[in-house]
Amino acid sequence: MCVGTQRTFNNYDCLCLACPRATVVSWRVNNQEQLFVSKLASFDGKKAIRGGIPFVFPQFGAWSFGPQHGFARITRWHLERPPDRLHNGDVEAIFSLMDNDFTRSIWNYQFRITYRLILREKELHFHIGVYNPSKELSFTFNMLLHTYLKVPDVRRCQITGLQGCHFIDKTRENALYQEGREVVTVNEWTDRIYQHTPQEHVITNVVSGRKMRLHKYNFPDTVIWNPWIDRSREMSDFGDDEFPNMLCVEAGNVTSPVILLPGTAFEASQILQQFKCPYTINSSNWKGNLTDFIQYD
Ligand code: BG6
Repeated sequence: MCVGTQRTFNNYDCLCLACPRATVVSWRVNNQEQLFVSKLASFDGKKAIRGGIPFVFPQFGAWSFGPQHGFARITRWHLERPPDRLHNGDVEAIFSLMDNDFTRSIWNYQFRITYRLILREKELHFHIGVYNPSKELSFTFNMLLHTYLKVPDVRRCQITGLQGCHFIDKTRENALYQEGREVVTVNEWTDRIYQHTPQEHVITNVVSGRKMRLHKYNFPDTVIWNPWIDRSREMSDFGDDEFPNMLCVEAGNVTSPVILLPGTAFEASQILQQFKCPYTINSSNWKGNLTDFIQYD
């Protein structure tokens, strides 16, 4: 069920959330969609939405105990705070997910995740906290924001910040390589887990030829994925002709799972910022005037 609705408001920006799965399915800047969602995506709650920004937890990839990429993207979240305008003009929404009968039947740990989304002009912020309330048990987990960027032609995109990083190439039997290119391009089936990546990547030639900055904190890995032609055909919820129009750049904790001791918490965040000219995110210029809104039905 999609409970966030989009409404154009002076051509400004908006956000659509597929609740109850806490998946961002639409983010518009200047009334232009920034996220890819397949025309064949399923919204029935039984499988993950093919597009937007699904939340991967507590497992990345195949999982012997449960569904691929964990249960968070197919589980009902609680809307802790419906979208609301803050005093500085930003709009905030907070979701939470706690262990329940379903999660414990797969993964028998107590946990609580708080997922805070903030919409600003041309920016979308994601702040995540994971808490282990147990008095005795530690647990380990993967976490990743599976961001599907909408792009006019993936072959024209360049991704910065990966040079020198080692990566696991899932298209070559998980062999380990080191990236030599200053910018990474995608011209074939690509499924790579880059390790120890820097806090920032810039992706060029996204919507309207603009750039997207992905700024991350406590997410040491970056997955780059595009299924290309043959793999697209294998996915029932992805059109055969859609692969040129998406690029997944996914920030996460993948190769070294997080170990959370009893009574402790973990925090991570990501900021997506669409921009045209050189502009650097730092703590003093994160504040901006809000020209954005979220409407919640
Ligand atoms: C990526 C993985 O993160 O997600 C790929 O690296 C995977 O291996 C892709 O194919 C899509 O996964 P899913 O479960 O949404 O089809």
